[in-house]
Amino acid sequence: MKSKAPAYFLLLALIALFLGMSFGMLASFQYILPEFLKEVLPFSKLRPFHVTSVISWIVLCATGSIYFFLVYVEKFKLFSPFLAKLHFVIFLLTGIAIYFSFIFDYTEGREYFAFSPILIMPILIGWIFFGINYFKTLYKNIRGWPVYFWMWGTGIVFMCYHLLEAHFWLLDFFRLDFIRDFAVQWKSYGSFTGSWNMLVYGISIYLMSKIKKDSNLGHSKIGFFFYFLGLANLMFGWAHHTYFVPMQPWIRYVSYAISMTEWIVLASIIYNWKRSVLKVEKENHPMAYRFLLSTDLWIFLNIILALLFSIPAINFFTHGTHITVAHSMGTTIGINTTILFSALFFILKNLYPEFETDKKWIKRGYVSFNISLFFFWVSLLIAGGKKSYWMYVSKTGLFSEMQASLIPYYISFFIFGIGIFVSLFIVAFPVFRLFLLKIKTPEKTGL
Ligand code: HEM
Repeated sequence: MKSKAPAYFLLLALIALFLGMSFGMLASFQYILPEFLKEVLPFSKLRPFHVTSVISWIVLCATGSIYFFLVYVEKFKLFSPFLAKLHFVIFLLTGIAIYFSFIFDYTEGREYFAFSPILIMPILIGWIFFGINYFKTLYKNIRGWPVYFWMWGTGIVFMCYHLLEAHFWLLDFFRLDFIRDFAVQWKSYGSFTGSWNMLVYGISIYLMSKIKKDSNLGHSKIGFFFYFLGLANLMFGWAHHTYFVPMQPWIRYVSYAISMTEWIVLASIIYNWKRSVLKVEKENHPMAYRFLLSTDLWIFLNIILALLFSIPAINFFTHGTHITVAHSMGTTIGINTTILFSALFFILKNLYPEFETDKKWIKRGYVSFNISLFFFWVSLLIAGGKKSYWMYVSKTGLFSEMQASLIPYYISFFIFGIGIFVSLFIVAFPVFRLFLLKIKTPEKTGL
């Protein structure tokens, strides 16, 4: 009997995604009607609920996918299925504790880790367990590792460090020096994102190589170039988070160049793969293939945005507006989430080869997801642009007047947010149902 931990992680990831989107929808409704639920669930509470849940979706789905690939596709004997189960239980209980921490206002943490800082301990322990299991399972053939194994291993190690780093502010040495505190805090968030990107981008290369049944992709020069670029980005690409900190200009330029190049290389890898993949290979994994095409499209759209606002003179105007939110959600939904849905469909096909993923409803959900996301993103960009214009260019009229002029864009943001929720629900429903079935009746899937 093999480990069921991957399926547990994937189910929990989907639950976190839909809970997170529900919080997001409530929060976006408060843009339109600020008084809505203000007493019970003010925006200041909904935001951390939303952000923590959706980031958990990315991390849990990446973790579950990696466990799954190792055990079920690569057929490695997991070093310790028990440790994997413990890893899951720790994350589940910590997730519940984080929600309680938000409900009862134990929110002395910061920004993306607003929960009580003590809860970072079990999270770290979970990552260490994952690391032990990962390296103990794979270390024997390290010489021939394809690039995605390197990416996952690196992501796990750096995740442990950056989670710690994000809590350095607890030490007086950091907290009592504003510049040091600010720089380290935002650096750690940038690198935290870089660490999960290592996991998720590694998954994208893995999927491309498996769908095409071409192991060369995992050993290609361009793949390894991408890995080192990602590593450099993880270590130095945070500078666009710290534009307000006095620092050497070259640090910003280097970081800016690296982060853009990383995306361009990933986009070109997907583009070349798309051109070379055979019809029959696409037909074997139609939805996994389609979601990777979306990734390519969303990388392209996000590059245009990021190219513009990474220029310090433009960043000055966009910082703190909805344009930044468009960037965060454009990338976490458009790039991370599409790769992860591709992984979910690939896994589904592995578990139930006879299941037809190319169903009319799933395809419709996929199309409406992309359309909704596009208008959702554009609404945020326009709202951000208008606010920035009022703050820095026109400088006329009251704040309340400017806010009132943004209402139409907030409404469209809210409506297309619902569009994303419903579309992903249609797409994810069969995946969720079949993963659940796998846990309940393992004999049907050979577990
Ligand atoms: C896969 C789904 C989603 C992901 C991964 C995601 C991710 C994120 C992230 C990372 C942020 C933090 C932004 C920042 O700090 O700059 C954010 C904020 C937010 N998201 Fe989402 N999001 C998702 C879906 C949604 C949906 C469906 C809605 C509903 C309309 C929504 C509404 C919001 C709102 C209102 C904020 C707060 C923005 C602010 O601070 O003003 N999100 N989201």
